Amino acid sequence: MLRKALITLAGLAVVGIGGFAAFAAFAYRPEIAPSKADNMPMFSAEVVEQGRLMAAAGFCAECHTVPGGAPYAGGYGMETGFGTLYATNITPDRETGIGAYSEAAFARAMHQGVDREGRHLFPAFPYDHFTLMSDADVRAIYAYLMTEVKPVRHTVPENGLPFPLNLRIWQAGWKLLFVDLGRFEPDPDKSDAWNRGAYLVEGASHCGACHTPRNLLGAENRSQDFAGAEIDQWIAPALTADNPASIRWTADDFTAYLKTGVTRDHGVAAGPMAPVVHAGLRELPDSDLDAIGVYLGDRVGTPQSEAEAEAAITASLTAGKPDGGYRLEQGERLYASACAACHYNATRIAPGRPDLGINSATRLEAPDNLVQVILNGVGNHEGMDGVVMPGFRQALSDQQIAAIAAYLRASRTDYAAWPDLVATVSRIRGADDH
Ligand code: HEC
Ligand code: HEC
Ligand code: HEC
Repeated sequence: MLRKALITLAGLAVVGIGGFAAFAAFAYRPEIAPSKADNMPMFSAEVVEQGRLMAAAGFCAECHTVPGGAPYAGGYGMETGFGTLYATNITPDRETGIGAYSEAAFARAMHQGVDREGRHLFPAFPYDHFTLMSDADVRAIYAYLMTEVKPVRHTVPENGLPFPLNLRIWQAGWKLLFVDLGRFEPDPDKSDAWNRGAYLVEGASHCGACHTPRNLLGAENRSQDFAGAEIDQWIAPALTADNPASIRWTADDFTAYLKTGVTRDHGVAAGPMAPVVHAGLRELPDSDLDAIGVYLGDRVGTPQSEAEAEAAITASLTAGKPDGGYRLEQGERLYASACAACHYNATRIAPGRPDLGINSATRLEAPDNLVQVILNGVGNHEGMDGVVMPGFRQALSDQQIAAIAAYLRASRTDYAAWPDLVATVSRIRGADDH
């Protein structure tokens, strides 16, 4: 018995050592020599412009710039749940930026998540999506960053992950477990537009980074693509047939929402979704936005007929029956005085003033998005251009905001009341000081 156990253990050790050797071979990445100063390849104006658009599609500036800081100079802190990671300086400064990256080193970073010196990068940098980008697009981004972005000397803070999570070797294991490294492969059964949309959504624009739930180790759960997820005290709603809005999203709705930040039937892109539109996708040509619409529309499924959509709206508007309890009464009064002047909730009123009964904010399982909008309003850089909603952070207490949310949920939907509303409002109020 014992002997057998020993043999088995020895076997395991051999497998372990073999496995470790294979892992070490995978994990080891050599340094790529610094590019020579003043030896930048020449890029055509078209390639640089293509790079500008792809950088917009990937919102590179959004993570690699601190508010008010020099573009792409890094230092923006990302809370990962394990500790804070700082996006690096990707200006062409040779010492503190990526000025010493050759084209090959840049492509390796984008496609494999390994920096020039051979260190594995953390997936807060969405290389698990960028790996799908074509060589030509990656080269174009390189051309854009190296020629159009001003070099800025700026050293970003050390990342705040605790030992041993800060050891980059773990990232090689994470990669091995969770990332399919490799370029996008078009589906020959689908149209060119569908494939272009898939390429952008899955690759450069990494929509799943927010809209797909993650597992305990922080990797996107592939069996739940776009099923909706929590991100920075917001909910990124499902982009599938499970999206909670009353009216099913269509290809055209997606395109309009991503181009303008608003649609008549679905409300506005606020919070973390705002820069996706305003600092990113709206730069893209219409053909690309149409393609994204085609791809997402297909994922959501067959559109409703106009009559079905109207029926869904009517059902929403007549759904709830407030029971007249004190809380709802208070919520109803507060709503009438604080909100109804603008949200008078006729059917399908002007775009930018969505009917709250059909908006996913009132219909999601969690009230976070509704609470965010009441607390912080909708700024000029969010939702529709030139249209704002005031925030009620100063005017209303946690309890009052909870009462309005409870009232809207009860009077506009058939869903169960949100539990722990007051606690949710105070958590969100405390988390971000706008
Ligand atoms: C969601 C936030 C986010 C987005 C979007 C993002 N990055 Fe990053 N990026 C990071 C973080 C965080 C790091 C540092 C990771 C680490 O320290 O391991 C990083 C690292 C990098 C690196 C390695 C740099 C170095 O200093 O070694 C490159 C190159 C890079 N990003 C380029 C890009 C480009 C190009 C885009 C747009 C196509 C982009 N990033 C979009 C967060 C982001
Ligand atoms: C940084 C995180 C993040 C990224 C990246 C992101 N989203 Fe979002 N998205 C959100 C959040 C949060 C909301 C909710 C915003 C609100 O309610 O105003 C949202 C809302 C949406 C909505 C509206 C859903 C509804 O039911 O109201 C659509 C459509 C959408 N996103 C599509 C996309 C697409 C397409 C991409 C990629 C091109 C993308 N998102 C990338 C976070 C993100
Ligand atoms: C002064 C007018 C005004 C008032 C008052 C107002 N809103 Fe708004 N609200 C707007 C506008 C305008 C938008 C769309 C903003 C945009 O497109 O940028 C909006 C958007 C919203 C959204 C949509 C968010 C989304 O993601 O689609 C919700 C929910 C909302 N308001 C709830 C409320 C509630 C609840 C109150 C009262 C506490 C309130 N609003 C008070 C004007 C107002």
